[in-house]
Amino acid sequence: MREINLLARYPRAKRNLVTRKEGQDANRLIARRFGFEYFDGTRDQGYGGYRYDGRWRPIARDIADYFGLKTGDRVLDIGCAKGFLMRDLIEAVPGLEVWGLEVSQYAVDHCDEAVRGRIVRGSADRLPFPSGAFAAALGINVIHNLPYDACVAAVREIERLAPGRGYIQVDAYRNEEERDVFLDWVLTAETFGTPEMWVELFRKACYTGAYYWTILETDPEWTVRRSAL
Ligand SMILES: C[S@@+](CC[C@H](N)C(=O)[O-])C[C@H]1O[C@@H](n2cnc3c(N)ncnc32)[C@H](O)[C@@H]1O
Repeated sequence: MREINLLARYPRAKRNLVTRKEGQDANRLIARRFGFEYFDGTRDQGYGGYRYDGRWRPIARDIADYFGLKTGDRVLDIGCAKGFLMRDLIEAVPGLEVWGLEVSQYAVDHCDEAVRGRIVRGSADRLPFPSGAFAAALGINVIHNLPYDACVAAVREIERLAPGRGYIQVDAYRNEEERDVFLDWVLTAETFGTPEMWVELFRKACYTGAYYWTILETDPEWTVRRSAL
């Protein structure tokens, strides 16, 4: 296993924690449907409008370099949403065979034209592909949406499809302050914890690929406003 941040060049999000906290329980139920509201509704219920803006281009380059991807290789993006990273991977490595896997019918129906027909509907814990079929299998901010046991199964699936060539990124927090911010923001994650908890889960699944964390940044302004809630 290797800890490496392949999303180092992903733009930092501006998050309004105070607004998100209002109505969080109801918004969680809506967000977990992964429908229109999650992708293209308000920021309180998900992305707040998810449109192609090229943000994945540098990450696609970094993923291609890390795995040494070349023409003819097959890559799977699990929880690919509308397929924007898939599109940028195809642009980064001409001739790359890119597939996506998504639980959301809304995302499949509203995917980028460049990847239409390349997204399979399904769940990360049961991947309908043969063992060893991929030169890289990516699970970026997706498996934490499953309960613990299904999460372990999803990691096993990534390892099965691309032994030693997975990349998993998951929500995590390193201390109480980060945990509090995370809990105020989270909408869809069902399994979360410290990096140590995740490494233990990866070991349990006999994972040998790469991984990194999505850690919400604390902002002094939020911290002051949070304490007033
Ligand atoms: C936070 S988004 C991440 C999308 C993209 N990978 C990214 O990092 O921007 C989570 C995505 O995972 C999908 N998803 C949630 N649960 C899933 C599951 N069990 N199997 C496959 N996809 C799932 C959601 O529909 C959504 O597109």
